Amino acid sequence: MLRFLEKKIHIFLSSCEKPHSQAEFGAKLYILQWEFPFSSRQHTTMKNILVTGGAGYIGSHTVVELFKAGYHPIIVDNFSNTDERLLHGIASITGQKPTLYKGDCCDLSFLTTVFESHALDGAIHFAAYKAVGESVEQPLKYYHNNILSLTNLLSLMAQYKVTQLVFSSSCTVYGQPDELPIREDGPESKAASPYGFTKQIGEQILRDFHQAHASFAIGMLRYFNPIGAHPSGLIGELPFGVPNNLVPFLTQATAGHRQALTVFGADYSTPDGSCIRDFIHVVDVAKAHVKTLNFLFNQSSCCEAINLGQGVGNSVLEVIHTFEEVNKVKVPYHIGERRMGDIVQIWADASKAKELLDWETELTLADALRDAWNWQCGLDDKKN
Ligand code: UD1
Repeated sequence: MLRFLEKKIHIFLSSCEKPHSQAEFGAKLYILQWEFPFSSRQHTTMKNILVTGGAGYIGSHTVVELFKAGYHPIIVDNFSNTDERLLHGIASITGQKPTLYKGDCCDLSFLTTVFESHALDGAIHFAAYKAVGESVEQPLKYYHNNILSLTNLLSLMAQYKVTQLVFSSSCTVYGQPDELPIREDGPESKAASPYGFTKQIGEQILRDFHQAHASFAIGMLRYFNPIGAHPSGLIGELPFGVPNNLVPFLTQATAGHRQALTVFGADYSTPDGSCIRDFIHVVDVAKAHVKTLNFLFNQSSCCEAINLGQGVGNSVLEVIHTFEEVNKVKVPYHIGERRMGDIVQIWADASKAKELLDWETELTLADALRDAWNWQCGLDDKKN
């Protein structure tokens, strides 16, 4: 036991840069304390689920739902796009602290330690970069990180015989579909960005891997547009820098932290001229991961792509007006130019998720926009 703890401290410390300040030292110490009381290769009665990127936006909501469903989540996160606030939020909501490893899935020896330290039962792989624009400017960053982290994870899962995997994919694999709603067997078109291509490649890697490792059960969840925050206001989206996505920009603009929101085009061939998306509450997305795991644990072999959407499209202008109505606030916005690479409209056929997983959305667009605003107001309260 002592050797194990020593090893863990060593790995933890070597993954840390030297702290620059008292506060940073405190934060790092906090992670160590956070990590310490857990970790044993002994099997508990709860199933151990590795959650890469578990301290991020969708990851943290999923960790909450995993605890609620009686799983034991083990987070691996490099904190490149999140911070410890979401860990505190998870603990406040659930009363439990997830086991945490600070590190990068691209670092095979680090990831091996996690597999060595726990008898894992399954994995959910969120850890990936996801900014479309950045991926166009820095394609290698995306190909390196998003592909290597997946292949590292798969090689260890094969080696340690951890055969249940949920993979974060995206509706971006479809491009602009001719027919809507789009089904999982609908045609895929050329990816509009390196980010989108990493999701297509990721799915292909998983299909090839499954061919060679038939004992695996794999769910590839194609998210449409996850938005909102936990209804408690304790976890939500923490975009670093200027948000690229609609809802975080909208909440920050409404709170006065940004200039007015630009609606990227209102001259499309849609009823009000703005683009249409299938917006889905992040808590519904999180619950779908638990249902997918439950499904996978009952399969001897599968590799399934599954849409996660409401099955309904809402326009950008509808989102703005619903936000104003639900939250009784005015959104500062103006109509601007179209954004390069945007598809006009997309929404899901979500019937496969209902059939296979017994999952469907429980929350509405209005719920998501209320919770997004509640989260933003909570962040601002803490600052003041
Ligand atoms: C994008 C990606 C998607 C990815 C997701 C992850 C594309 C084509 N799709 O989804 O693959 O999984 O991000 O984050 O890039 N909008 C505005 N003003 C804004 C921001 C957005 O009008 O300031 C509009 C967009 O033009 C779009 C809609 O809001 O019509 C949703 O945009 P966004 O939240 O960025 O998501 P997607 O582009 O759908």
